[in-house]
Amino acid sequence: MEVIDAIKSRISVRCYKPDPIPRDIMTKVLDVARFSPSGTNTQPWEFYVVTGKTLENIKSIGVKNIAEGVAIDEPAVPYSGDFRRRQVALGIEMFRIMGIQREDKKRREEWVLEGMRFFGAPAVIWICLDKAYYQERRDIALVNIGVVTYAITLAALEFKLGTCIQFQGLMYAREVQKALNIPETKHLASCLSIGYPDWNAPINSLRSERESVEKLTTWID
Ligand SMILES: Cc1cc2nc3c(=O)[nH]c(=O)nc-3n(C[C@H](O)[C@H](O)[C@H](O)COP(=O)(O)O)c2cc1C
Repeated sequence: MEVIDAIKSRISVRCYKPDPIPRDIMTKVLDVARFSPSGTNTQPWEFYVVTGKTLENIKSIGVKNIAEGVAIDEPAVPYSGDFRRRQVALGIEMFRIMGIQREDKKRREEWVLEGMRFFGAPAVIWICLDKAYYQERRDIALVNIGVVTYAITLAALEFKLGTCIQFQGLMYAREVQKALNIPETKHLASCLSIGYPDWNAPINSLRSERESVEKLTTWID
């Protein structure tokens, strides 16, 4: 696949087929992603690929916490201005595609829970890094993790896999870390669901909007 096609055709997949991803395919995706650049080539990322019963357990933790209104690990400050406008536009389009009315609180809540179930993905990847690295070099750490996360989303396309980067997998990161037996010396920095997209699902027809290059770019001579 051409690079520009890959960048432009990647979307966040929010409905997967249950088919498992063969381990050799998943390995190939991560093998490509490890060629990502990192600050002074520190390559701080570590991948935890979670499937099967363990993933079911993580899903049930998320669903239960949301249903019981458990506070998330890091309180989220609401967006404002352009950010809020774009966030609202995304939500409106999502619910329009799924035929969920604004006042239909039950279906909206059910959709949030579907996210906590990783939209039916057969696998979820948590990307961790050394906690000391994260604490000492938070600025560069998060750039590195963002870079490798995106590389996974692109590499996946070559194998007809879809992905969705999901903050939902980090909302209760402390509990997830315990359930996965990830040592306390690690920091869970990124999470993405991965699997074969169900292209018949209406939600996967969502194409989110982008600002124009003119609005985003300042030229300085
Ligand atoms: C850091 C980050 C966190 C995200 N968290 C979620 C999430 O929790 N749930 C979800 O459905 N999508 C999540 N997304 C996907 C975004 O909504 C999506 O990337 C954005 O709307 C642009 O759409 P596209 O990925 O289809 O191009 C996240 C994306 C990023 C980069």
